[in-house]
Amino acid sequence: EKSGYPHFMLKEIHEQPRALKDTMTGRIDPERGDIRLDEITIKAEDLENIDKIFIVACGTAYHAGIVGKHAIERLTRIPVEVDIASEFRYRDPMVDDRTIVIIISQSGETADTLAALRESKKRGARIIAITNVVGSSVSREAEDVLYTWAGPEIAVASTKAYSTQLVSLYMLALKMALEKGTVDREEAVEIMREMKQLPEKAQRIIGGEQKIKELAYQYSKWDDVFFIGRGLDYAVALEGSLKLKEISYIHAEAYPAGELKHGTLALITEGIPVISLVTQEQLYEKTLSNIKEVEAREATVIAVAMEGDENIAKNANHVIYIPRTIPFLTPVLTVIPLQLFAYYAAVARGCDVDKPRNLAKSVTVE
Ligand code: M6R
Repeated sequence: EKSGYPHFMLKEIHEQPRALKDTMTGRIDPERGDIRLDEITIKAEDLENIDKIFIVACGTAYHAGIVGKHAIERLTRIPVEVDIASEFRYRDPMVDDRTIVIIISQSGETADTLAALRESKKRGARIIAITNVVGSSVSREAEDVLYTWAGPEIAVASTKAYSTQLVSLYMLALKMALEKGTVDREEAVEIMREMKQLPEKAQRIIGGEQKIKELAYQYSKWDDVFFIGRGLDYAVALEGSLKLKEISYIHAEAYPAGELKHGTLALITEGIPVISLVTQEQLYEKTLSNIKEVEAREATVIAVAMEGDENIAKNANHVIYIPRTIPFLTPVLTVIPLQLFAYYAAVARGCDVDKPRNLAKSVTVE
């Protein structure tokens, strides 16, 4: 059932264009400027009575939530907090009947996430679940459910679940903003048009995987790797670093690029790989100056940048280009080279890619 692939993880990375398309089909209609999410019943009047949104999840789903916060706040102007499920319910969270709690879980069975859902419900919040498994506990206990149509995800490392969670969050943000009237139709249509092109752009990145494979093999011998980025690039850096740790056992850390000189720069020495994400136009110069700081310490800079950005090549040892889209949507694409980098680094190190040590696909114990 691996359809000729050596591992489920590679198969699932390659399935992303299809999974993204399936998740958006029938839901996004740029021609009519409309988002149809049949399972989401939330209306303008409900949103008027909402002060705050929480997004609660674990691991990769939590990382998707960070991007979701950005999208929802930008489009709806409702404040959003993102929480790790195993922390959330132990800190007496400020959740009540004027709160929406968005629960993200691929499996829909993660113990801490489910407990956070129940705790929020008890406090009167309205629950929206984003999950990949029809009939899962999370889907049964939430009022509204938005399914990611990623298909079964077998590898322990989550890949297509993440990218489909992202497009689900974008759709949810757009839907709420259209209901609330906080986005103008033209902007919404532009975002929808760009979203529709993501599957084809994801396919182009996958088509260029040979270069990423070579880089991963080349740097797989390092024991430490850093990921840096600002804004949405930092959110994706967190996910890239988790993926690398999880399956290749390389120590990896993600930092907001501007935070380096507050401590971590001390660890940057000659040759150390620093994967630098620079896809956010409005933060470009700022991130570039941080790249120059690591370059000055003779680190090896592997940049992930937007196609057409020739300038970056002057400040990086290697550049991986992703197709252009609006900066707001780049996480869906930027993550793919990082997934492939982690995958090939793990293969190069002879790791058991689909079943990394100490980890389970679904964490049903606390
Ligand atoms: O099924 P869930 O989305 O609730 O799982 C959450 C995490 O356990 C999961 O994303 C985990 O971090 C992945 N193994 C990361 O690749």
